[in-house]
Amino acid sequence: MNDGPILAIETSCDETAAAVVDGRAICSNVVASQAELHTPYGGVVPEVAARHHLGTVNAVVDEALARAGRTLDDISHIAVTQRPGLIGALLIGLSTAKALAYAAGKPLIMVDHLHGHICASWLEPVELDAPFVSLVASGGHTRLDLVSDYRAPRLLGQTRDDAAGEAVDKGARLLGLGYPGGPALERLAAQGDRTAFTFPVGLGGKGERDFSYAGVKTALLYTVRDLGDDTQVHLADLAASYQEAVMRPLADRLIDAAIEHRVPAVSLGGGVAANGRLRELVQTQADARGLRLAVPDRALCTDNAAMIGAAAQFTPAIAWPDYLGYDAIATAPPGGIAA
Ligand code: KG4
Ligand code: ZN
Repeated sequence: MNDGPILAIETSCDETAAAVVDGRAICSNVVASQAELHTPYGGVVPEVAARHHLGTVNAVVDEALARAGRTLDDISHIAVTQRPGLIGALLIGLSTAKALAYAAGKPLIMVDHLHGHICASWLEPVELDAPFVSLVASGGHTRLDLVSDYRAPRLLGQTRDDAAGEAVDKGARLLGLGYPGGPALERLAAQGDRTAFTFPVGLGGKGERDFSYAGVKTALLYTVRDLGDDTQVHLADLAASYQEAVMRPLADRLIDAAIEHRVPAVSLGGGVAANGRLRELVQTQADARGLRLAVPDRALCTDNAAMIGAAAQFTPAIAWPDYLGYDAIATAPPGGIAA
């Protein structure tokens, strides 16, 4: 464990974020979202994201320190997201963190972004202790991990194609709902019948822990094509049925994995954890099985730096000048978390 207040920086996608975390306490958690910049393009434009991080990151770090009532001198370690993410975006955070670590004479901690999502549940007020099974579902990731020890989550399953949030966004776009589509799809689905259409649930086999969303997305495309002008009449039913096909395998596989590995709790993270239907499906099954369900606040489920500060406490620190040799990496390591 790395003790003392940690200054954490996260720039892997379209949020410029910095936080000060001390043990399980969040002293500050500042997020400057670029989402509106990317909306006209229907997705994140990597070059735009990197340039915007560059212009924003210093102010966000200053704000995080100010809100925590601390200066760099009070900080014990600097932590930063090293992987996975948009390479240009990651590089801005990593270069900033190296410069701050050098200037302040502090060790640097390289954090895996997915490790951060998993460790969000460790922070107050949720304070979930291992062992548990974690589901992280966002626009970029969909994965199940067995967390017997926060230092080394073990990958149980992941998506073989689209992430769950990506499937949500693509489905929402097919239904004419704009980007990002999650909240709009959920609102429309609330007025529809989730049994009206049957969409295939990818990789449905017993004991299966991986996910696949390519099939359900194509099925929606064909259904909309076949309905033609009638699509508008069935829009709410389509949204509800599609949402069900995306959320049900997430809930089922999370609970199945918890039972198989005999853990007392499950956790949700990532932007898709905001979905009310997913929470309902997981809560109902968790209650039936006597499992605790841990869901951090929405601000800790979506991309933020407090979760990076949490994961940093379970990751080895690197001293000057060794950290200069570490680079940003776009991909996740095969088979799990780089912790
Ligand atoms: O974690 P996140 O904020 O960003 C990353 O992708 O890293 O996740 C964003 C994803 C988007 O795909 C968005 O559509 C989805 O989370 N999302 C939702 C909801 N709110 C956000 N999906 C379903 N229902 C929601 N209420
Ligand atoms: Zn994320």
